[in-house]
Amino acid sequence: MDHPSRAQCGGAAGPTQKASRMSISRRAFLATAATLGIGTGTALLSGCASSGTNVTGPSGSPSSLEVFSWWTEGGEKAALNSLVSEFHVHNPHIDFVNRAVAGGAGTNAKAELARRLKAGDPPDTFQGQAGAMLDDYVDAGQLEDLGFLYQQQGWDRALNSTLLQLTQRAGKHWSVPLDIHHINVIWANKRVCDHAKAPVAPDNVPDFVTALHRVAATGKNPLAISATAAEIWQVKHLMECLLVAEVGPAGWPALWKAGGDWGTQQVSTALAALRQILALAVNPTAEVSWDKASAMVGSGEAAYQIMGDWTEASFTLAGLLPHRDYDWAPAPGTDGTFVFASDCFTLPKGAKDRDAAIAWLVECGSQAGQDSFTAVKGAIPPRSVIGSTERGLFDEYSNWSMQQWTGTQIVGSLTHGVVARAAWNSAIDSALLSFAANRDPVRLQTALQAAAKQYAA
Ligand code: GAL
Repeated sequence: MDHPSRAQCGGAAGPTQKASRMSISRRAFLATAATLGIGTGTALLSGCASSGTNVTGPSGSPSSLEVFSWWTEGGEKAALNSLVSEFHVHNPHIDFVNRAVAGGAGTNAKAELARRLKAGDPPDTFQGQAGAMLDDYVDAGQLEDLGFLYQQQGWDRALNSTLLQLTQRAGKHWSVPLDIHHINVIWANKRVCDHAKAPVAPDNVPDFVTALHRVAATGKNPLAISATAAEIWQVKHLMECLLVAEVGPAGWPALWKAGGDWGTQQVSTALAALRQILALAVNPTAEVSWDKASAMVGSGEAAYQIMGDWTEASFTLAGLLPHRDYDWAPAPGTDGTFVFASDCFTLPKGAKDRDAAIAWLVECGSQAGQDSFTAVKGAIPPRSVIGSTERGLFDEYSNWSMQQWTGTQIVGSLTHGVVARAAWNSAIDSALLSFAANRDPVRLQTALQAAAKQYAA
């Protein structure tokens, strides 16, 4: 587990801090963050200092908030710090205890969380993902229904309705969405692509394969990806983009319903492409975290990465410039579809500091909280209306993503929690780990069919 850090603010942030936070652009924030060392977790924009002591709330009782997430890398960590900073503007008396557990896509965090919940030791709030990922916690009776907070804060109207429809269960609210991430995105190093005469935005999967061959011919790594046990989710992420490209926005949700047909020629074609593409990546058996893979693209060691838009936050944090150093586009063959994931926070039953957790959830559901986080994270806020002034806080990429969100077909992500529960995801991870070793798409398809038969409800 990552070392927890504790931070407290000695008093309310001054008016200058508030004003500067609301008007700061993402790139300016990141530049400041880098200077202050926020990316390495040493300081917060609001001037919070690290401390190991509890502070007292208005009632005189100690008030500390244990927040569990997996945001420990690059832009993830900077975005969490930005949100904490905003939280402290409204809650200067609450001591923030960071329980982030390293590991992309929550690989290690989810296991640690399960252990704590089983032991009856929940954090005050934990990061979840809207959709099926939360179902196990709901079924196990581990979460409080947040209907009261939705009513009090007017979130049913303020939050994006497409997202709300996809995230409620049986009319109850189990989490507060903080962001919308774009999953089907290809990131490209412009110079490497130009040198190889490969497009930065291949239109479809066959064009992508041709582009990878062109890059390979120049001696560069065509695709930054890791297929180790800890990083197999990166392969799952690629696979879901290839499947969406083949089956389209109508066929994708059908795969996750009872009777979904995983035996089709379209699925076979997507898995054959997965084998071809993985074969072109240089040394995918090396342990490379998603942010290191992004850094390979940023530095020109590799040409492409297919990854969620937290990658953009890391490029920005590294001082890279869009269209000069990197470019992005919908993953090949998925133009017109927005595969989304939404990070959210929950209220576990038995939270030790329930009031502080509620204050955190209020921050997560507020415009200021969501803007402070998403503008740094590469994501977009999950609100029903995003005004033009608010859009000005976001950079070019996020504005593009906002347009895509409203102008394309929305479907949920597999790898990032929306369409399948944890057990189904684990079965797919095992199938992919075997595939990484045997590279047999027919066996992979058989395993995916079996998993669907076992887990589709
Ligand atoms: C996703 C999560 C993102 C980002 C990513 C990489 O599952 O939704 O917020 O953290 O993992 O770790």
